[in-house]
Amino acid sequence: MSKVILLPSKEVLDIPEDKNLLEALREKGIYIRSGCGGFASCSDCKIKVTSGEDATTPPTFEEIQLLGTVFHITKERLACQTKVFGDVTIDISGHDQKRDEETRSNKSPRNFGKKTKVRKRDEVVEIEKERKEQRDAKDAEVDGDWTRHWEKDQKPDWDKRKKLDGGKRPRPFKDAEELSEAEKKDEADEAKPDNENKNESD
Ligand code: FES
Repeated sequence: MSKVILLPSKEVLDIPEDKNLLEALREKGIYIRSGCGGFASCSDCKIKVTSGEDATTPPTFEEIQLLGTVFHITKERLACQTKVFGDVTIDISGHDQKRDEETRSNKSPRNFGKKTKVRKRDEVVEIEKERKEQRDAKDAEVDGDWTRHWEKDQKPDWDKRKKLDGGKRPRPFKDAEELSEAEKKDEADEAKPDNENKNESD
């Protein structure tokens, strides 16, 4: 029999050397979380060996696969893979039966959707209105304190864009009276046939 001190309760237990810690502690009525039933595939049964690590069996291949080779840093072992043959102190503060049961019951399908709040239409409209007001207030704040005017000019007007339906309106034709003298001359030049233009230049 080996003496094992449990932290944080400081309870002292006599544990047989031929049983792993998970089995031995369960027999004594101590709760240790386990998802795989002791087959080294879930890592739920992690415990911390705070002293007496020399009196524990070396990690198995499966344990190394799950926890790596960092025991000297983390002091963590799998209870289902560890046997003890001397005085050892282990920390099992991560195993809280009450908390685990609560978590399990919250996740159960029977409770699904019970805590989800379903809002009524009026409420949603009210919230949207409130958010729009907040956004507008924020925008107004920014507009009032705009130092880089070129960014303000480029600021997209989303409402206007929607009205345009994605296209630009064509520019209206100008009346002949509105044209300046230079524009009239340009238009006349363009209207002349190519030969005439050539002769003029000769
Ligand atoms: S109980 Fe699953 S790894 Fe130990």
